[in-house]
Amino acid sequence: MTAPSSPIARPRTAIVVVAAGSGTRLGADAPKAFVGIDAHTVLRHALHGVFAAPAAQVVLVVPGDRRGDALTEVVESAGERRDLVTVVSGGATRQQSVAAGLAAVWPDVEYILVHDAARALTPPAVFERVIAALEEGREAVLPVLPVVDTVKRVDGEAVVVAVDRSVLAAAQTPQGFRRDVLLAALAEADQEHTDDAALVQAAGHAVTTVPGDERAFKITTAADLERARAAVAPIAPSTASLAPRPALPRVGIGTDVHAFGGGGSLWLAGLEWPGETALHGHSDGDAVAHAIVDALLAAAGLGDIGLHFGTDHPEYAGAHAAAFLTRTRAILAEAGFAIGNVSVQVQARRPRFAARRLEAERVLSDALGAPVSVSATTTDGLGFTGTGEGVAAFAVALVVAV
Ligand code: CTP
Ligand code: MG
Repeated sequence: MTAPSSPIARPRTAIVVVAAGSGTRLGADAPKAFVGIDAHTVLRHALHGVFAAPAAQVVLVVPGDRRGDALTEVVESAGERRDLVTVVSGGATRQQSVAAGLAAVWPDVEYILVHDAARALTPPAVFERVIAALEEGREAVLPVLPVVDTVKRVDGEAVVVAVDRSVLAAAQTPQGFRRDVLLAALAEADQEHTDDAALVQAAGHAVTTVPGDERAFKITTAADLERARAAVAPIAPSTASLAPRPALPRVGIGTDVHAFGGGGSLWLAGLEWPGETALHGHSDGDAVAHAIVDALLAAAGLGDIGLHFGTDHPEYAGAHAAAFLTRTRAILAEAGFAIGNVSVQVQARRPRFAARRLEAERVLSDALGAPVSVSATTTDGLGFTGTGEGVAAFAVALVVAV
């Protein structure tokens, strides 16, 4: 591996970005780093933070069969730093992927940061803090957040004891190390560690903390992905303007039908319904959310759900209502529309909506940033909703050009 020769291209620091995991807990169709947050993947967002941090060699560790895709992402996001990037294949465990990345670090690099691509929205300031602590002479630096939840030690279902959270911290990445410290720790490791600070600490080195950042949360589950999607969604334009609005409001209608019999739990109207049979569908089969999306797109004259979220958008496989509604809100905002309100009716024998109707309204309204009314009805045993084969939803939306 040859390092470029110009001074700016011979950085003292390398950032190893591990992105070779499969994302089992996320359960998407693609490896986690290649799942979309918005129009861009988890990896692309992670690279955005990495390239906004101080210039460093960047070693990107990805699944072997994804190196081409990763290079495309690099070419599109590295700009002038393209020559500082190397893409390598990862291993079966995170630690093996880190080792594969370290093997590609240039010989004259002094500090190595290891970063999870899954912490896709990590701001550049966290990289800066870690690098600054290393330059002040720390051997190993860990960004942390205070623990806000009350924490218990448990044994199965039983609570054993409350743990004092003031002595706890949640570890994030990028974690930074003096090169020799990290390489020696990895060489003598006799077990797998979930992060690199644990590896270095096991080898007897002091690890120092610096403040992490809420936005550096790790995308592990579908709920985390929805959190990331909400965090990157553009804010809808304010409707508080006093300017006259000559455009008349526009209405749209949307319907959707899904059959029972999918895997996992039932998701309907943005809620999980434990114990109820799941619905089939490319995503979670949430007919209520899909009818709302169609009604909104129709009201704005922006096509339909298949156009924006169809099977050629694999990142929406398994996605829940909030992801669809937040994205739809952004699509409308980009086209200059504010949402007035949405009314949706679900026809279903099960689940029984009465006890959770208000909860559904709150979840859907929060995701959309506009009031959503939910009503539910059975059909007197008639038709496929009456026999319990599936559910149908009908939505009407009102939007206005702003
Ligand atoms: N990672 C890696 N190589 C592996 C396993 C994990 O490079 N063999 C990376 C992931 O891509 C991720 C980071 O390590 O950026 C943190 O791992 P985790 O969040 O556990 O991701 P996955 O292993 O992909 O997810 P899961 O454990 O749910 O399968
Ligand atoms: Mg993992």
